[in-house]
Amino acid sequence: GIWKTAMSNTPRATLQQNTRLIDFPSLGDVRGQLCALESVSAYVPFDIKRVYYMWDVGADQVRGKHAHYTLKQVLICLGGACEVVVDDGRQRQTVRLNSPLKGLLIDGFIWREMQHFTPGATLMVLASAHYDEADYVRNYDQFLQQANEG
Ligand code: TYD
Repeated sequence: GIWKTAMSNTPRATLQQNTRLIDFPSLGDVRGQLCALESVSAYVPFDIKRVYYMWDVGADQVRGKHAHYTLKQVLICLGGACEVVVDDGRQRQTVRLNSPLKGLLIDGFIWREMQHFTPGATLMVLASAHYDEADYVRNYDQFLQQANEG
């Protein structure tokens, strides 16, 4: 399927289900870099309904700390670098995002934490739905219980 060409090689094999690192194509030339992402494509496999971004995140701050029941997201660090911890209730992995050509797709019931932002880092998130607090699980014990009950 479409993932054969879109997925990056090394990290994917070790990432848990429902999370995938995706390499975006660069349209850069001598004038500089450019990347274009389209809704419902190999690179963003859902209809983009919302875009948000965070910056000025202190090096000691941890954001996220929640899971979503239905939301799909692609996280892209546009400048600088940050880490995304993805936790499926069984194992916890840390993904470093340090390139505008790298996206982290999260499309399942995954607890995520964003941390260790470098100064000037901006993390952009493409999301499959409008903001809906009812889609959030913000309590880790509740997440663990629901993630492990099948
Ligand atoms: P929060 O969930 O704490 O952000 P993060 O996932 O980065 O840790 O959101 C901070 C506040 O912003 C909270 O009051 C909810 C609000 N918010 C929106 O209104 N719309 C959005 O799309 C997002 C992501 C957050």
